[in-house]
Amino acid sequence: MVFLDCFTTEAQEQPVEITPVTKDTFSDWLTSQSGQLANWVKKTGFYADPGKSLILPPGDGGKPLGALLGTVGKNDIWSWGEAAEHLASATYSIGGKPNDTDLNNATLGWALGSYAFNRYRPSKKPISKLAVAASPTLTAISNTAQAVYLTRDLINTPASDMGPGELAACAKDIADRFNAACTVTTGNDLLRDNYPMVHAVGRASKRAPRLIDIIWGKPNWPKVTLVGKGVCFDTGGLDLKPSSGMLMMKKDMGGAAHALGLGQLIMANRLNIRLRILIPAVENSVSGDAFRPMDVLKTRDGMSVEIGNTDAEGRLILGDALTEASAENPDIVINFATLTGAARIALGPDLAAMFSNNDILAEDIAAGAEQCDDPVWRLPLWKPYRRFLDSKIADINNAGQSRFAGAITAALFLKEFVSDNIAWAHFDIYGWNPINRVGRPVGGEAMGLRAVYAMLEKKYSK
Ligand code: BES
Ligand code: MN
Ligand code: ZN
Repeated sequence: MVFLDCFTTEAQEQPVEITPVTKDTFSDWLTSQSGQLANWVKKTGFYADPGKSLILPPGDGGKPLGALLGTVGKNDIWSWGEAAEHLASATYSIGGKPNDTDLNNATLGWALGSYAFNRYRPSKKPISKLAVAASPTLTAISNTAQAVYLTRDLINTPASDMGPGELAACAKDIADRFNAACTVTTGNDLLRDNYPMVHAVGRASKRAPRLIDIIWGKPNWPKVTLVGKGVCFDTGGLDLKPSSGMLMMKKDMGGAAHALGLGQLIMANRLNIRLRILIPAVENSVSGDAFRPMDVLKTRDGMSVEIGNTDAEGRLILGDALTEASAENPDIVINFATLTGAARIALGPDLAAMFSNNDILAEDIAAGAEQCDDPVWRLPLWKPYRRFLDSKIADINNAGQSRFAGAITAALFLKEFVSDNIAWAHFDIYGWNPINRVGRPVGGEAMGLRAVYAMLEKKYSK
């Protein structure tokens, strides 16, 4: 069994034991030590701040006596990630009183904090290892970490190396690893197969638009379909974004990255789900062939959409994908999308906005979020705001006049394409850590992925 690089199940040397301390337990720890060591620690200025770590002075053999790590308490995940990132490269183990640490959370945190995006240059510091026992639990933790790594890698990869074709190739790789079926509909075939909005949004780019469709699991298992916004770069289209707004738009395929990461986790842990992953993959570009403001597009389900703004492209491509998702009447549909700036204005970058047409599904996901420290916040599908999307000449406008409640109107647009009897949740995510948070490096980030997985695992594990 191969685990992640940040773990060792057969440590060569005696690991350095990390003792977790909180602001409350730190003074007890100090009093239980020799006066000499306690004084040494006091002089360093270490004060058990969460995520702060300290290597203790060497003992008789020249090896450190151990290390201290400030945590927020037993269930802490992220402080362990900060330790993995910042402690000097060596092999460590989790020490302290067994009741002080949830080993699974600490081990997961270690893995998530060990992540580095090194596609374009090697990491500056050799990775620290955590000595752990091989077990099915360790496999599950590694699977979770690998799902998050995949999501981060896909988001971090710039558009030059992550166009619709490359995204489809990644999806195919993942499908192949789990013997899943994967079909990709490309370019003009999207018109033949009736994905008009995916085609319209993506046709301006030299890199042809695609619809990626992965299917895995036994046909009679409960059907769960994941849909992800795969805008590999969002210039805004003819309603061009200013440079400040365009800067980060390599991450506009973050929804696709979440659908693939979560899908991989479901397949790796073999949940009893007939899984489907649908990803419309496009580049929202500018050219003479671009779709225009005030164009009217036909959709897969036959509705007509007036284009109020070519920068509201995510909801268009997701509309066609959600129509296809609904067609086989699955038990659950979940989509992820970096859909609106408004969601980030409302909730900031750390909190995933969740919308759902089903209270039980929403509550189950919220419980999963709580359980695994992956916060989501539900916003309303406030029907009266549907009027903001009224069009004078078509069934709906993709942007409308009002700038109010942008995350809600985007969600209401998507809702038009999902059958009311299907339990559906929509995540409007930022997908990015703009500044270092304890245990989570700057860059692409999975948000709500572990929360949804926790919900699915509770329902569908063997
Ligand atoms: N991809 C953007 C949304 C976005 C912007 C997410 C910044 C995260 C950070 C999306 O395609 C978009 O441009 N949305 C517009 C919609 C508007 C034109 C109705 C927005 O949010 O401004
Ligand atoms: Mn846009
Ligand atoms: Zn976008």
